[in-house]
Amino acid sequence: MRVAAPITCLLAGGNAVVHAFSSVQHRAQPNGSVSANCEKACAELSTAFGLALHYPDSDNFTIWDAKQQEVRPACRIEPSNASQVSQVLDILVNHWCHFAVKGGGHSRNPGDSNSVGGVTVDLDRMTQVKILDESRARVGGGANTLQVYKALDSHNLSFVGGRVGTVGVGGFTLGGGTSPFTSKYGWALDNVYEYEVVLANSTITTANETHNADLYFALRGGGNNFGIVTAFTVRTFTQGFVSTTMTTYSRNQTAKVLDQVYELSTDETLTSDPDMSYDSFYTYSSADDSFILSGTQRYAKPVRNPAVFDEINRIPTLTRSTTISNMSSLTHDPEPLGVTRHLFGTLTVAPSRSLLARAVTIFEQEVQAIKSVECMVANFITYAVPRTAIAAMKQRGGNALGIHGDQPLFLILISTAWSDASGDTAVNTMTENTIQRVKEAAASLGVANPFLYINYASAAQAPEVFAGYGEKNVQRLQEIQRAVDPRGVFTSQGLWTGFVKLI
Ligand SMILES: Cc1cc2nc3c(=O)[nH]c(=O)nc-3n(C[C@H](O)[C@H](O)[C@H](O)COP(=O)(O)OP(=O)(O)OC[C@H]3O[C@@H](n4cnc5c(N)ncnc54)[C@H](O)[C@@H]3O)c2cc1C
Ligand SMILES: *[C@@H]1O[C@H](CO)[C@@H](O)[C@H](O)[C@H]1NC(C)=O
Ligand SMILES: *[C@@H]1O[C@H](CO)[C@@H](O)[C@H](O)[C@H]1NC(C)=O
Ligand SMILES: *[C@@H]1O[C@H](CO)[C@@H](O)[C@H](O)[C@H]1NC(C)=O
Ligand SMILES: *[C@@H]1O[C@H](CO)[C@@H](O)[C@H](O)[C@H]1NC(C)=O
Ligand SMILES: *[C@@H]1O[C@H](CO)[C@@H](O)[C@H](O)[C@H]1NC(C)=O
Ligand SMILES: *[C@@H]1O[C@H](CO)[C@@H](O)[C@H](O)[C@H]1NC(C)=O
Ligand SMILES: *[C@@H]1O[C@H](CO)[C@@H](O)[C@H](O)[C@H]1NC(C)=O
Repeated sequence: MRVAAPITCLLAGGNAVVHAFSSVQHRAQPNGSVSANCEKACAELSTAFGLALHYPDSDNFTIWDAKQQEVRPACRIEPSNASQVSQVLDILVNHWCHFAVKGGGHSRNPGDSNSVGGVTVDLDRMTQVKILDESRARVGGGANTLQVYKALDSHNLSFVGGRVGTVGVGGFTLGGGTSPFTSKYGWALDNVYEYEVVLANSTITTANETHNADLYFALRGGGNNFGIVTAFTVRTFTQGFVSTTMTTYSRNQTAKVLDQVYELSTDETLTSDPDMSYDSFYTYSSADDSFILSGTQRYAKPVRNPAVFDEINRIPTLTRSTTISNMSSLTHDPEPLGVTRHLFGTLTVAPSRSLLARAVTIFEQEVQAIKSVECMVANFITYAVPRTAIAAMKQRGGNALGIHGDQPLFLILISTAWSDASGDTAVNTMTENTIQRVKEAAASLGVANPFLYINYASAAQAPEVFAGYGEKNVQRLQEIQRAVDPRGVFTSQGLWTGFVKLI
């Protein structure tokens, strides 16, 4: 997905990472004072782990979002395996020092995966991928998408991973995980056979369908509320090259394109093709002060013009390019880390052609109102949760998301990138207004849905995320939370307070 600012707006082109290290990293310190507890915890971690412990003044740590890059933790620790994660957690709890856990680090709020004044537990040394057999691989809790695709591609295998290589398997899978392979296999969380997890009392355990089944359910959508996952055993499948076609359209084709966006999500003949998926984008870029409509046609076979896209391909394009390759080369798009600010916000609706048109208009109006934000790229992105993926959510005891029914859904993601903190308030306002107005439009058309995808939710939406899973699931999740973490170490009253909390 294109979420980056255009290159002319990046701070230092190819040297952006270096630039971030030398001048962006420690610019701001939101509530960044370090408690005596955490000072002691860092000292003990330093003694126990030596070179795996880093203090911010001598660290060249980088993370995706500039707001998280600006965070100054007390220290950062890089455990190498589950027993070290357990040892780290034990030290943190003993000193009662707050912390954050970093998987791929693609969250957008300070404290989500880089701790504000506490300890950042960075899983970046836990990236091993071990192929167990033709249908299962064991993936380290800190692996990113590209590392897994790479390890599997050379065996003509793949897994339900994301669209961008640097995204962590950890956060992606614990929250949901929508993939180019979703039509065939479902979301990532429904393709995990087993979790190895460190619980709040530092015990290392495993959860699968038959062993710790409650915890297995909770980890399928429960995010960072239950434990630190040190390994995922994921489904693998035989996979060759895939086909990806990017198109852009002139604005006078908007109505025709939206017709096809709707058809590609709802028409049973089209959606019954298990290799197909389609992502739609409406994008404002301040570099050329204009909106552009684009789409990504994905096909899980090496076919240049799959028939499923015949109808949309009758619409004239401005540009069109097809790549046929493996997932590792398709998702390898190194974006400079830590230089661009980002905000995501989301909502879910039942498919509606009229809502699509209204939503695009609302988004356009709200973006027009904040055009003074520097170096802004604002995306209105939508794609389907296909029927097949919703059916797959019932496997192995089901997941916690509370999505059901036999009709597809649309996920809507408002994803904005910009360059300077002076734009933060405007982008927040635009995102909240757009979501509120689209929600009202959806309600008036009878296509509202309570689900909010945790991995796309803004901080303002965090309190509503679990409510969207449904009352029964929330109760069950809270009971499981209390059972595995009676002291509430992983709750908002405990030590691991970032991201989206259940309690
Ligand atoms: C460029 C980009 C592309 C994206 N593409 C997709 C996509 O194609 N499909 C999709 O569904 N989503 C996509 N997303 C959203 C993505 O799934 C979320 O941002 C996700 O939370 C990122 O996970 P992470 O591990 O990289 O981030 P992090 O910030 O490291 O993790 C997110 C949260 O999960 C926790 N966490 C991470 N790993 C573990 C672990 N091993 N054990 C316990 N807790 C852990 C962290 O503590 C944090 O609270 C994309 C996001 C971006 C920025
Ligand atoms: C910076 O980090 C990289 C790993 O990402 C490491 O190889 C390198 O030695 C580090 N450099 C400094 C100056 O710490
Ligand atoms: C964990 O990693 C450390 C450091 O590499 C190593 O000394 C230790 O033996 C490992 N423990 C296990 C159980 O693999
Ligand atoms: C992926 O495909 C490219 C060619 O498109 C090839 O160069 C590369 O080696 C492949 N990667 C793997 C891991 O197989
Ligand atoms: C993977 O598939 C390609 C193309 O079908 C084939 O040439 C190659 O031998 C396969 N590799 C393995 C490891 O099976
Ligand atoms: C679940 O884990 C237990 C304990 O490790 C193991 O005996 C069992 O085979 C696993 N079940 C499945 C379905 O993986
Ligand atoms: C649509 O716009 C493009 C240029 O943006 C133009 O070439 C084309 O003629 C227009 N088509 C119609 C039907 O107006
Ligand atoms: C750790 O917590 C788990 C879940 O509550 C519990 O089953 C286990 O007995 C605890 N272990 C210890 C050593 O207290």
